[in-house]
Amino acid sequence: MKIKDKEFTILINEADLQQRIGEIGRTINSDYKDKKPLFIGILNGSFMFVADIMKHISIPSEVSFIKMASYNEMASSGTVKELIGLNENIFKRHVVVLEDIIDSGLTISGVLDQFRERGAASVEVATLLLKPDALKTPVDIKYTGFEIPNKFVVGYGLDYDGLGRNTRAIYQLK
Ligand code: IMP
Ligand code: MG
Repeated sequence: MKIKDKEFTILINEADLQQRIGEIGRTINSDYKDKKPLFIGILNGSFMFVADIMKHISIPSEVSFIKMASYNEMASSGTVKELIGLNENIFKRHVVVLEDIIDSGLTISGVLDQFRERGAASVEVATLLLKPDALKTPVDIKYTGFEIPNKFVVGYGLDYDGLGRNTRAIYQLK
């Protein structure tokens, strides 16, 4: 698959993605039974993951979305990011953050700090993808879909320069 100037090759196919997402969903159903969790997806990348995992969630729960807005262009190099769009009161709520990918871990660490400051009863992370070799800060991740090599990936919500989100599989840079 080609996006702009770059060639990508398949990394995780649709069937494997869906099977693993179903497994995580069922685990969350039993872990959060009677806790009425609030799922919070981090836009934009998590939109497909959230849509698909919610189809497996059968316990009473709510779902919402936030964005992390960068103060400047150097977002990926660790600038402070502001959490925007959270309308729910998360005080005493059991929050499950749904993320597409954890790379350096800086984005999710910022999100977790801000949720804990707001008095959530618990905050856990479910990430579809994790690049263990790229982590720059320790992150406590409760649910991980797939650990992947430290290579750039696109598809299934993840983008390369805004493009490539609209695929059913995940591809990695050749
Ligand atoms: P982190 O703060 O470095 O962990 O990066 C988190 C965010 O960067 C993710 O939510 C993605 O939006 C983006 N990102 C990190 N790695 C990739 C990748 O390989 N492809 C596309 N987006 C990525
Ligand atoms: Mg993201």
